[in-house]
Amino acid sequence: MSETGSHKDVSENLPSEHHAHGSEVAVTEDPFANPGHPAHEYRRQDIDERAAKHSERVVAGLFTLSMLGTIAFIACFVIFPVDKIVFIFPFGNVSALNFSLGLTLAVALLGIGAGAVHWARTLMSDEEIADERHRADADDELRANVEAQWIQGAKESGFGRRKLIRNTMLGALTLVPLSGLVILRDLGPLPEDKLRHTMWAKGKTLVNMNTNKPLRPEDIVVGSLTFAKPEGLEESQEDFQEQIAKAALMIVRLKPDDIKDKQEADWAHEGIVAFSKICTHVGCPISLYEQQTHHVLCPCHQSTFDLSDGARVIFGPAGHPLPQLRISVNGEGNLVALGDFAVPVGPAFWER
Ligand code: FES
Repeated sequence: MSETGSHKDVSENLPSEHHAHGSEVAVTEDPFANPGHPAHEYRRQDIDERAAKHSERVVAGLFTLSMLGTIAFIACFVIFPVDKIVFIFPFGNVSALNFSLGLTLAVALLGIGAGAVHWARTLMSDEEIADERHRADADDELRANVEAQWIQGAKESGFGRRKLIRNTMLGALTLVPLSGLVILRDLGPLPEDKLRHTMWAKGKTLVNMNTNKPLRPEDIVVGSLTFAKPEGLEESQEDFQEQIAKAALMIVRLKPDDIKDKQEADWAHEGIVAFSKICTHVGCPISLYEQQTHHVLCPCHQSTFDLSDGARVIFGPAGHPLPQLRISVNGEGNLVALGDFAVPVGPAFWER
């Protein structure tokens, strides 16, 4: 590969008309023959030292801009107090510190990126070369050599003979990774069975998450998607977020004939099915329902579940169907649960 400083050499070697650098363009009648590299096209900077100098100055200017951006970043960090708000068109009122740090960091990174790209495109060698591949494995002689050395090394180290050292060393090497595992305990309390149980229990009424009223079968029309929570769970509760993150439900009414999964049909009430709203990938709340196909989509990573087929995963990274809640109606005509979910909701790393 030619160096940046070799512009003169390159221009001296320039052919008058056609030039295929490294290999000629193959002229052959075989339509499948390797055509080789196309003729190398020299850039202006390769043949004109003044153009090369100009590119050099542009690259240096971009790197200098980056340096100024970094200095400005540090200055802004020192100058602006955390609570200073300024009006900046078209963003409105923004934190002066955040805005200035973002802007100066962007200039610093952009300067480096743009400088590197311009350098590579205009001054670094762009000559196409073919790199021949050779066999990567060693020949038999080399392998025999290495094997002999390995055996001799093992013999000389006394690894086989000095059993006390060997066994204690193996013990030490086996135990030392435990220190890394033990400190994982500091990540927080173990979930124990908290992920396995939710607030749903036999006889708990399904309450509309928006209206806070008990849900009745006649409230659920075919094609609609309703979100529900267990009765007694109020936003004012201290553990509301923890409980709703496990108990949130999606309620959909399907035509009974559209339900393909037998257990799903048995756990439904007149075609009304209740599934966990928590995605089994990493636990985002699912919210997009396509009524023609009965598919629900998780907006986080596009996992898609078929609500007419046991909420089976039909696309995306989720590993399990959405858990279904068995429901019925009580004497007052309200939808109620017939128990808790049969399997843990959400990603459920611990149980599966
Ligand atoms: S959390 Fe739903 S697809 Fe990732």
